[in-house]
Amino acid sequence: MYPDQENIVEQLDLPFDLSVKRMERDDDRDHASLTIHLGDANELICEIDDQSVDLIATDPPYGIHFEKNEWDKPNQLNWHDLAKHFKRVLKPSGNLIVFQGWSYVAETKMILDQDFTIKNWIIYDRVKGRGAKTNFVSTREDILWYVMDEKNHVYNKIDSTIKKKTGGMGLKNGTKYRALSNVWSDISPIVPWSKERVKHPTQKPVSLMNRIVEVFSNPNDVVLDPFLGSGTTAVSCQMLGRHCIGFEKNPEYYQIILDRTNNE
Ligand SMILES: C[S@@+](CC[C@H](N)C(=O)[O-])C[C@H]1O[C@@H](n2cnc3c(N)ncnc32)[C@H](O)[C@@H]1O
Repeated sequence: MYPDQENIVEQLDLPFDLSVKRMERDDDRDHASLTIHLGDANELICEIDDQSVDLIATDPPYGIHFEKNEWDKPNQLNWHDLAKHFKRVLKPSGNLIVFQGWSYVAETKMILDQDFTIKNWIIYDRVKGRGAKTNFVSTREDILWYVMDEKNHVYNKIDSTIKKKTGGMGLKNGTKYRALSNVWSDISPIVPWSKERVKHPTQKPVSLMNRIVEVFSNPNDVVLDPFLGSGTTAVSCQMLGRHCIGFEKNPEYYQIILDRTNNE
């Protein structure tokens, strides 16, 4: 249990939407509670307490109609509204991590810049992308890192063992390392033969979400992902002992989240 849990649970009692199924549990393994809801993030986020979340880490629809998925049609998210809620629910020391595709990252950034201080713009280089005859193969995903307070936020620095093309690696306990850069090319994407693969078209690897959860939050912190998809953020929180609040509006994906996190 974490101190604010009672409040959050109470806040999330949602009489207006009977389709919302509420689930909470205290996970004995890591003392991580999961509060996962089936429903629309735009509505559900209104129910979260002010200043109750340490980290928002989310991979929302990119608005590119990926593989003709309805949920990824352009202009479905009201980023101005979302930004206001993100600002409201984050603690003053909170971090905001937002995934984007290259097509609309500039527009989303201009909106988020109004409410938050940008700390970095990370590129996740999936290395593997779709072949293209008339354009470059797209392997990048953009990850915007924002803070509420430039001087007071969580950043648990980690090292990288990715080789520097120019040499000059450091040495720690016999292992060559360097500071992790803002281009992450060391994490394999989900491929058809990935063991962790489930039936979601844009599933992120657990190792990627683990890095984000570890660097930008501490054990027992509250992490919010309003667009859970197959629930990778929830899985990471479970593994790393963070309390997760998450939303997903598609019942099939919601069931996958429950299965992955072993919730009944
Ligand atoms: C890019 S996917 C997230 C994938 C996730 N990172 C994973 O590893 O599986 C975005 C998800 O947001 C969901 N979604 C879209 N609009 C939503 C909304 N208004 N409320 C809740 N979920 C929504 C979609 O159904 C989709 O599963």
